[in-house]
Amino acid sequence: MSNYQNIVVEIHGGSATITLNRPEKKNCMSPALHAEMCQALVEVEAAKVKVVVLTGAGDSFIGGMDLEKCFFDNWDEPARFKEGVEYSFEWMRRLKAFPAVTIAKVNGWCFGGGMLVAGLCDIAIVAEESTWGLSEVNFGIFPGGGTTWATQANMPSRKQALYYSLTAETFDGKEAVTLGWASKAVPLAGLDEATQRVVDNLLRKGRIVLDFTKQVYERTRDMNFPDAIDYEIAKLYELSRLTNDDWIKTALQSFKKREYKPGLQSYQVAREDI
Ligand code: ACO
Repeated sequence: MSNYQNIVVEIHGGSATITLNRPEKKNCMSPALHAEMCQALVEVEAAKVKVVVLTGAGDSFIGGMDLEKCFFDNWDEPARFKEGVEYSFEWMRRLKAFPAVTIAKVNGWCFGGGMLVAGLCDIAIVAEESTWGLSEVNFGIFPGGGTTWATQANMPSRKQALYYSLTAETFDGKEAVTLGWASKAVPLAGLDEATQRVVDNLLRKGRIVLDFTKQVYERTRDMNFPDAIDYEIAKLYELSRLTNDDWIKTALQSFKKREYKPGLQSYQVAREDI
């Protein structure tokens, strides 16, 4: 694993944790941090983990883009400005299409680009005490770089999306759940435990089925129903082939013997590599 200055990457068993580690700057994302995130996601993907948790050191999840290092300092040097934002686009695109399940563990401040990161993750477990805001309009721009897209994807109500985009009013973790940005809110003191419970649940499932569940969800969002049926049956055959029919041979075989209740438990995946 590479030696990083702005993030900490840990891989244990089937899961990885990436911690943005600029707590003195509220983990705002500088060009150097973006470059490290590009590399870290490549390394974590190569490790074939099932789950990746993204979180922040100290009292902040992500204080947005580094307004000085990304924007103010580089604006007069277009090539440097472009390079900085390109790094951010590169890892955001990779995060959106990531094969492992991505969990945002939102422990504190979450502004602008931080909301984009949380919004791109598959699951967000958040502290009730966390503070969220689309603050761009407060310094004269609109939520850009994919943040308006993520707002539409996570906050389906137009009235809510425009309200928070236009006023930059902040909201807490509980409200983030109500608005659609987060999956679950828990008191900060229980955030690590609550996140670990979700990670442990996912680790009991197969890596390939988790990946396929994500792919099928994303691809069918824009399909009509007949196309979705065709696509979903084709993906079922593909999944079965890649897992050597594990769902029939192991999961349903075990159910036939009444060894578990699929409504309440996961079957034991037959091989580590699936
Ligand atoms: N860019 C650059 N520096 C930042 C950022 C940022 N996004 N966020 C925090 N910092 C710096 C502060 O300027 C300060 O630096 P200093 O110690 O050199 O003065 C340090 O981090 C600590 O922050 P404080 O403001 O002292 O901490 P406080 O707890 O009082 O406030 C808060 C935290 C509310 C997060 C505040 O720092 C803030 O408003 N940050 C900007 C949030 C924001 O609007 N981000 C941009 C989103 S839009 C986008 O991402 C495109």
